[in-house]
This record gives sequence, C-alpha cells and structure tokens, in this order.
Amino acid sequence: MKVSVDNNLCSGHARCHANAPEVYDLDDDGYCNIGQNKEVPPELEAAAVKGANACPERAITVTK
Ligand code: F3S
Repeated sequence: MKVSVDNNLCSGHARCHANAPEVYDLDDDGYCNIGQNKEVPPELEAAAVKGANACPERAITVTK
C-alpha cells in the first residue's frame, strides 16, 4: 500500500500524523511531507488509512 499527499490541499491539520506518526511525517511548519507514493509496511496500513480518513482536507490518497 502507498500513500501520497496533495500539498495544494494540505493545510497542516496534522490529524494524519496524530493517527499514524510512523507514516505521516510533518515538516517544520506542520505540513505533511510524505511526498508521493510512500510505501506503507503491512503492519502500519490500518493506521495509515485511519490517518488518511482523518484529514479534513482529503489531502491524502491511499493506493494499493
Ligand atoms: Fe495535512 Fe491533512 Fe495531515 S491537512 S497535515 S494531510 S491531516
């Protein structure tokens, strides 16, 4: 599974990081900086999906 962030949508809510800190890194300003197609290890997939769904801007895309 892979996750990507749309930096045009991310406005720094940090809920992705709150749900899955191992997956969603934040930059110094609190914006998600995972880039595109970051590989998620199987044991973190559930948390990664939760984090994506928690984003109020829908800035995170999850792909299989
Ligand atoms: Fe950004 Fe959404 Fe996370 S706005 S910091 S991707 S919760």
